[in-house]
Amino acid sequence: MSTFVAGNWKTHLLNDSAVALASDVAELCNGTDVAVFPPAVYAQSVRQALANSQVGLGLQDLSDLGPGATTGDICADQARDIGCQYVLVGHSERRIRQQESSDWVAAKAKAAVDAKLVPLVCVGETLQERESGRHVDAVMQQLLPALQVMQSGDRFMVAYEPVWAIGTGKTASAEDAQAMHAQIRLQLAERGLEQTLVLYGGSVKAANASELAEQPDIDGALVGGAALNGQEFAAIVAAFREKK
Ligand code: 13P
Repeated sequence: MSTFVAGNWKTHLLNDSAVALASDVAELCNGTDVAVFPPAVYAQSVRQALANSQVGLGLQDLSDLGPGATTGDICADQARDIGCQYVLVGHSERRIRQQESSDWVAAKAKAAVDAKLVPLVCVGETLQERESGRHVDAVMQQLLPALQVMQSGDRFMVAYEPVWAIGTGKTASAEDAQAMHAQIRLQLAERGLEQTLVLYGGSVKAANASELAEQPDIDGALVGGAALNGQEFAAIVAAFREKK
């Protein structure tokens, strides 16, 4: 089966360090099953650093609209024009800080697919939602609007990132992550979207990647902090490649 590992660099790094990290990734874990999501301002220089590799390039967000009067946004045509193949949509940091609704996220995912970009639709419950037993409902409420705009054959991925596990050092247990992934897979299968990869994110590191990769419904990882170190990121990629 295929797997995918993505590095979300968020607003870390400056141009030189972004280029150096991209070169490390290209050298240490080159392949079409890997992509990096640098800060958009460095996408072009990262693209150059990846030029002789198969590593994919993505943006961390996308406008739901085409070219026009949306100051500060990047539209799908522009993302493609600078050589991106992937985009993150609905990351919890944006759902929370920018108050992005699930319908808005779905519109972004649709804009990406229409432009032949592959969106990674991010979903994940808060600690409060998990502790009150509402975690599956919370994730499905985020996910279903995006699934409704997808058609069989559309290329996209889902990234399950529990909010309480992001940047906290607390990873969901492999069993808890697997349980949510199985629910997500069920929803995908009901809509003829079973080819869609489901990635896990939230404090993934070299030390826990193999255990996560062993779970039947965890097809890859969306990595934050540990993606900022080429060796560590390559070790995570290697753990998922073993699954194939
Ligand atoms: P961390 O791996 O730093 O927890 O971040 C996860 C994440 O938000 C990736 O999108």
